[in-house]
Amino acid sequence: MKPRVKTGISGVDKMLDGGIPAGNQVILAGGPGTGKTLMCFEFLYKGAKEGNSGVFISLEEDAENLIENVKSAFPSFTDIDKLIKEKKLVIFGASDTGVYVRRDADSSSYTFGKLVTEIESIISSAHASRVALDSVSVMRLLIKDTLEYRNMTMNLVSALRRSSVTTLVTSELEIAEKSRLLFLPEFFLYDGIIVMYAGGAADTESRTLSLEVVKMRGSSHSFSTAPYEITPEGINVLFLAERG
Ligand SMILES: Nc1ncnc2c1ncn2[C@@H]1O[C@H](COP(=O)(O)OP(=O)(O)OP(=O)(O)O)[C@@H](O)[C@H]1O
Ligand SMILES: [Mg+2]
Repeated sequence: MKPRVKTGISGVDKMLDGGIPAGNQVILAGGPGTGKTLMCFEFLYKGAKEGNSGVFISLEEDAENLIENVKSAFPSFTDIDKLIKEKKLVIFGASDTGVYVRRDADSSSYTFGKLVTEIESIISSAHASRVALDSVSVMRLLIKDTLEYRNMTMNLVSALRRSSVTTLVTSELEIAEKSRLLFLPEFFLYDGIIVMYAGGAADTESRTLSLEVVKMRGSSHSFSTAPYEITPEGINVLFLAERG
């Protein structure tokens, strides 16, 4: 069995038969507010606590903002500042990466290419083994041509593979209901796909969150869809045992 990188979210690790196979590049797709950013952060935080350095690259918000949001959502993550100080957690916000995503369509491939180069150098200087990239959706908006976007994604995934890191890349899904789900063509380039659904019975008002490992290369993973909740102690995935 391939060595596993534990996400530190116990339900997810159980669903993955121990964790993410080391070196896998995984897309974490879900609707707005389903906890994509928080899950990525928890993956890095739990890793850092075990001594594994992680880099969080946000293309959406500034580092201070991100840290503030995570602290408010996960008050029991009391070591964030310490781990940042020790450089076990390295956080790059949207204004640190030097990539200012512009509306200029002609420069979008260039921007993406530059981002990939920058990510490689950030990973190498941080000696990171875990990476979170949150989110690629903004790049997808910039690059209208599907084939071109697929090629750029291939470059990104190859660069991450060369860096030998285990990565969660988030992507927004416009439709996050299981019954109406549509996968984006570039998802197939990743080693794994985890989907975070927001839904619930049509006749109820309440929103329920659930998570599914759609694919994971190198792992005999669960095919169940497990409910989860965002708690002050972290993301709690309610996965007990595999159905027989
Ligand atoms: N301080 C908090 N207290 C309680 N719940 C919170 C808190 N902060 C966030 N949450 C929960 O976490 C969710 C947001 O998580 P997160 O930002 O990770 O989602 P996301 O999928 O990344 O969203 P987006 O699509 O906006 O990027 C909120 O919708 C809420 O349910
Ligand atoms: Mg987010």
